[in-house]
Parts: sequence; structure tokens; C-alpha cells
Amino acid sequence: MIRETVVTTRAEDGHIHIAPMGIREEGEYLLLAPFRPSQSLDNMLRDRYAVINYTDDVRVFAGCLTGRWQWPLCPANRIEGARLKNALAHTEVLVERVEDDELRPRLLCRPVHEAQHAPFRGFNRAQAAVLEAAVLVSRLHMLPWQKIQSEIEYLNIAIEKTAGPHEQQAWKWLMEAVTQYREKQRNEASV
Ligand SMILES: Cc1cc2nc3c(=O)[nH]c(=O)nc-3n(C[C@H](O)[C@H](O)[C@H](O)COP(=O)(O)O)c2cc1C
Repeated sequence: MIRETVVTTRAEDGHIHIAPMGIREEGEYLLLAPFRPSQSLDNMLRDRYAVINYTDDVRVFAGCLTGRWQWPLCPANRIEGARLKNALAHTEVLVERVEDDELRPRLLCRPVHEAQHAPFRGFNRAQAAVLEAAVLVSRLHMLPWQKIQSEIEYLNIAIEKTAGPHEQQAWKWLMEAVTQYREKQRNEASV
């Protein structure tokens, strides 16, 4: 099973880098598999640690994909990095084993500290729809326009029926990115 999380790492200049990333449990490890090139990967290979944040604030996922990286942070407990201040929970990990690959290395990470900060209050369909749309936005250049359009139409049902303000904001950012992409595509076609 893959869980969609937000990974925070420290860049060489000290700033905290935030990126949505899927994780998997593999025995005693949490497995991260970033596609190259990846700033998160570079940071983890250099520092050998990361923080995995579990959040239901889908604005962070949509924000990171649309150039909005200013999310409140606070120091981690056992490592030098930082965690999302509003995370429901987080796990601090050490990168213990690296299985290198040209396309997608596998980082086997050992949890060294875990804390819960707020309760999980149930599933929300609009949050799931935002995550799906965020993945779609990260793959716009690989997908035919008709598929993008029909998936958005379907996901929009959950947004209309079940979204709160955070989900609406996140959805708006993603839809702006889709519109911009479509306009750019049209302009390129007309040149
Ligand atoms: C829900 C979700 C899950 C993602 N999971 C991964 C992942 O497992 N590996 C990956 O390389 N990128 C994943 N991405 C895309 C990255 O967040 C995005 O490409 C990001 O820029 C990573 O590159 P960076 O480390 O250079 O920031 C995911 C995006 C979303 C919205």
C-alpha cells in the first residue's frame, strides 16, 4: 500500500524543501522512491535523514505542485530537519540503505521518532479528489487532453459535494495550473 505524504528535507543552503511523495512500508523500513532528478533525493543522499509528514491539509499537496512552498514549519525532534507545523503526525527517518537506479532509486529509511499532533477525523472525498488532481497536474505533459478533461470532470463531483475551504482553495490552484497548461499548448500549436 502506498500512502501519500509530504516529505521535508534540508537543502544545502539550509532551507527546508517540501515535496509530496508516496511512501510504502517494507518490513522495518519506510520506502521512499523519488524519480530523478529530485531535490528531495539529493538532500536525503547528502544528509541521510528526512521527515515524513502526514497531513489532511491538501493545500500543501496542491501548493507544492503549483509553486507555493511557504508552509508553516517547526523543528524536528531527533534530527536537524523540520516538520510541517500542522501535520496530524510525523515520522523522522534515517536513510539507512540506498538501492540506486538511473530513474527511481529506492531509499530504505529507518524511523527514529514518531509523534501525533492532532486526531484523524475521517475520510473526505474532496481531499482524495484533490490528491488525484495533483497527480494529474504532475503528469499533464504525458496525458492526452481528453483524458485530463474527463478525469477533472469526474473528480469535480466530489469537490462540489464535499469540499471545505481548504479543498476548494487547493482545487482552484490546480485548475489554474490546468488552464495555464492548456493555453500554453494552444499557443504553441498556433505558432
Ligand atoms: C500525491 C503525490 C504523490 C507523489 N509521489 C511521488 C513519489 O513517490 N516520487 C516522486 O518522485 N514524486 C512524487 N510526486 C511528485 C513530486 O512531489 C514532485 O515531482 C516533486 O517536485 C518532487 O521533486 P523534488 O524532490 O525535486 O521536489 C508526487 C506528487 C503527488 C501530488
